[in-house]
Amino acid sequence: MTEWSKSSWRTKPRIQMPDYTDAKALSAVEGQLAKYPPLVFAGEARTLRNELAKVARGEAFLLQGGDCAESFSEFGADTIRDTFKVMLQMAMVLTFGAKVPVVKVGRMAGQFAKPRSAPTETVDGLELPSYRGDIINGFDFDKASRVPDPRRMLQAYTQAAASLNLLRAFSKGGFADIHRVHAWTLGFTESDEAEKYRDMASRIQDALDFMKAAGMTGDHSPDLQTVDFYTSHEALLLEYEEALTRVDSTSGATIAGSGHMVWIGDRTRQPDGAHVEFCRGIQNPIGLKCGPSTTGDDLKVLMSKLNPKNDPGRLTLIARFGAGQVGDHLPRLIKTVQAEGANVVWSCDPMHGNTIKSASGYKTRPFDSVLREVQEFFAIHKAEGTIPGGVHFEMTGKDVTECTGGVRAVTDEDLSSRYHTACDPRLNASQSLELAFLVAEELSKVHEAQTAKAV
Ligand code: PEP
Ligand code: CO
Repeated sequence: MTEWSKSSWRTKPRIQMPDYTDAKALSAVEGQLAKYPPLVFAGEARTLRNELAKVARGEAFLLQGGDCAESFSEFGADTIRDTFKVMLQMAMVLTFGAKVPVVKVGRMAGQFAKPRSAPTETVDGLELPSYRGDIINGFDFDKASRVPDPRRMLQAYTQAAASLNLLRAFSKGGFADIHRVHAWTLGFTESDEAEKYRDMASRIQDALDFMKAAGMTGDHSPDLQTVDFYTSHEALLLEYEEALTRVDSTSGATIAGSGHMVWIGDRTRQPDGAHVEFCRGIQNPIGLKCGPSTTGDDLKVLMSKLNPKNDPGRLTLIARFGAGQVGDHLPRLIKTVQAEGANVVWSCDPMHGNTIKSASGYKTRPFDSVLREVQEFFAIHKAEGTIPGGVHFEMTGKDVTECTGGVRAVTDEDLSSRYHTACDPRLNASQSLELAFLVAEELSKVHEAQTAKAV
């Protein structure tokens, strides 16, 4: 293999990236970003790798979630707080229900660039370049907005830095203190699962009161007062990723400074392509989306390129096949992983294989399909004797109407009322919580089976 550098991706075929017309502006932005501080640090990325190694061994569970695409216009403290709150609630449901620690990773503070199925879109006879995420071009359907503008990278960096600052404060500054487990509920989630959550929170509160009374914990134990929360995004816009890549002065490790974990999308995972080339040389934990077209041969090459030392925690395979299709693809890829003796985390993205166009014309995802894909993922891992390590959701803490179904059912007709996503439809807070309870049920079966085997 040829020598890697943070710019060696430039010699490889690239797809899904913009052609910037203003080369001078682009290189000015790259120069500026290269001088800015990284957003995350080598020690943090290493800690996340260690956490994911536990997931690979079945000792923890990965919860990854957030926006499909973060947007400049939706940016604000409340949006971040609400998504963070729902993720804390979901993590608590999983930990309490399945008695397993949860590694929390947001699709946040950097999830700005989007691959698209078509390079252009046509509305009323007008054909314009597709929207590719706020870091690249504008959402508005007019010619000027759709021109890729490198200066958008600076705004994305600023927004990511501010988001991360808030997330760090929420994680460590008292908000995530487990004694506040009741306070993470969101006003509008009045439903069965909100009630279920309140019951669970009361039981947790009882346990905490008991431990305190018995002198077993100080109220100031950092394990109870803070959480570790990590950020992630698709490493799609490689000019941005390269400019934020740094060599850690203590360990010498090369780290993408844009987020703790980055992943390679289903459309950009060509073994000889630019995205794989960039990701193979950085030391962050890497995700790899695996869709129906992933062949065993490609996966073999990708695993050896992306994780040549076979370190557990380095590589997370994110399966996204679609409900009803998991059985056609997951077993064959699990066999490839086993044949290679590869250490991976298997995670389930039940969103991207289940997007449909509703009768009302909106892009949506039926909650039942999302749930069914998760159940198929668990069932196949059970049959293969392998570890279902995590889930990957597009979700928000807002009360949006983007995915249909759920106990507080969103109907086709409801979609238009609060459809705010800049890209794919997200689970709302109530649907996310409902799904967490259902995943916790599946996961507790896995852990019961493991315990029974150990006895
Ligand atoms: C995404 O995660 O937003 C995405 C585009 O996924 P995929 O690459 O799996 O289609
Ligand atoms: Co998406």
